[in-house]
Amino acid sequence: MRRKEQPLTIPVSGPVNDPVNSPLDEDSGASPRIRTTDDLEVSSYLEIAEERQGARPTGSEESPEPHETIVIIDFGGQTTMLIARRVRELKVYCELLPHTASWERVRALNPKGFILSGGPSSVNDDGAPRAPAYIYESGLPVLGICYGMQTITADLGGRVVGSSEREYGHAVLHHGAGGDDAPDRIASKLLHDLPEAMPVWMSHGDRVAELPPGFAPLASSESIPVAAMGNEAGIYGIQFHPEVVHTPDGAQLLRNFVIDVCGCRGDWTAANFVDEAVGRIRDEVGDGRVICALSGGVDSAVAAALVHKAVGDQLTCIFVDNGLLRREEPDRVVQTFREHLSIDLRHVDAVGQFLEELADVTDPETKRKRIGETFIAVFEEKAKELGKVDFLVQGTTYPDVVESAGSGADGVTATIKSHHNVGGLPEHMEFSLVEPLRYLFKDEVRQVGLELGLPKRMVFRQPFPGPGLAIRIIGAVTRDKLEILRSADWIFRDEIDAGNLYSELWQSFAILTDTRSVGVQGDARTYGYVIALRAVTAEDAMTADWARLPYDVLARASSRIVNEVPEVNRVVLDITSKPPGTIEWE
Ligand code: XMP
Repeated sequence: MRRKEQPLTIPVSGPVNDPVNSPLDEDSGASPRIRTTDDLEVSSYLEIAEERQGARPTGSEESPEPHETIVIIDFGGQTTMLIARRVRELKVYCELLPHTASWERVRALNPKGFILSGGPSSVNDDGAPRAPAYIYESGLPVLGICYGMQTITADLGGRVVGSSEREYGHAVLHHGAGGDDAPDRIASKLLHDLPEAMPVWMSHGDRVAELPPGFAPLASSESIPVAAMGNEAGIYGIQFHPEVVHTPDGAQLLRNFVIDVCGCRGDWTAANFVDEAVGRIRDEVGDGRVICALSGGVDSAVAAALVHKAVGDQLTCIFVDNGLLRREEPDRVVQTFREHLSIDLRHVDAVGQFLEELADVTDPETKRKRIGETFIAVFEEKAKELGKVDFLVQGTTYPDVVESAGSGADGVTATIKSHHNVGGLPEHMEFSLVEPLRYLFKDEVRQVGLELGLPKRMVFRQPFPGPGLAIRIIGAVTRDKLEILRSADWIFRDEIDAGNLYSELWQSFAILTDTRSVGVQGDARTYGYVIALRAVTAEDAMTADWARLPYDVLARASSRIVNEVPEVNRVVLDITSKPPGTIEWE
């Protein structure tokens, strides 16, 4: 099963709108909803199906490119993924690998240095994970963070001691070795341009009591004498977390290590990525036939545009229009791909079929299940028309890969499978996967999308659930209700745009409730629907706060909705944060 998301106890930062990191609510018991992106959900339907065929990602275990790479050895810390993001922000490619990864696997990545992450273990415990010997034998620079520092200490002959109290929270780091040449020289590389009294974030129990031979202490804090250490060979340890926002100079420290100590050039850019990915996809696909399911979301759009750049007409995209998207979105998909990018796009109008399957369904999980099953059925029928297909493009991104790998099984698929019970694809549909975004974070996917000429509106689209508007209509979904919701949602979006608020919000949308209320319009009394407005801010979808939208934006949206959508006569605002509320209403 998928690795369980632990609540973060270390403050983290990261670009907003990273829905791929949305957790699955598998442990809540109460609601089996699937918190994934639309793209992930669509691709998961397919994955579930093709898994039964034994289809496997092509080359998924191989290194993606011969870039300069910082290899991050993951000891299971809560913020390891953030370390990777920070390194990528320096335009340096990095990958997370387990401590059991072989040297052959590491060498293939063209490593320039290692970062050893934090982790929950104690190096003095039996069976605690340790840094593999090749890290020290390679002669490459190493930066151990927290547990990483402790494993370096233990591995190289120093001593780590436990502490009855865990140090957790802010601390001030003091560096400057005071007149001794060697420590100054060593420290100057890692700590240059950092304030002498540097605020840092600590989270540790154990600490270094005795340095390994050849190491110098580089900094201390009030509670620990060795808060940073290093040697002439470029092996460093720091007891604090540079990757979290509460270490404001942490990015500079990582820059010092990655650029100055390891000598990385910073050549990981969207343009370079596109060039290299195109070559790799061509090698992988040869003259094979490729299909891609578009959902309207950013991951599948970028993946398709990239594959098209590589293999042109060998790619056919299938867009299953389920009738559950927001206004104009189906047209945007068609225009962008068919007219703008000249991609062979099969637009399947399956609205009738989806609505038939959803007729009279009021239970949210039954809605989800029917939508998943119908998608597979429609996709299969369309794909059959194409004859032999060799490859299926998936918009899998790096957080999906890491999450799944961490569990040792394809947890995402497994969880969605249990909720959707989607049928498998038939025998004749056997293909290998092409996953060109497999090593990218969401913000990198967006940059690549812009590089490929996709419209901003598509690239910066807020997360949207796979079951779409069906879970924003309380009760049974009908064509009329979809139209009412679309109209109200469109107006809300328009006002959000006019207020320049769209990109500041994690999600903003309207819900059509099943409540009707009395109103008065002109001389007549009305009995119309109640529309709810929901706008949330979030760093990821695990928690969210209701957005404090300006009153005038709300006033305009409300007044326009009741005036322009005849079936609606009342607008309410959802002011519930998550938890205890969820973002979606169903
Ligand atoms: P909740 O409502 O659980 O949503 O707070 C968290 C995030 O997940 C999205 N979401 C879904 N995405 N299929 C999806 O692909 C679903 O069934 C689903 N339910 C919720 C939601 O939009 C939010 O971003």
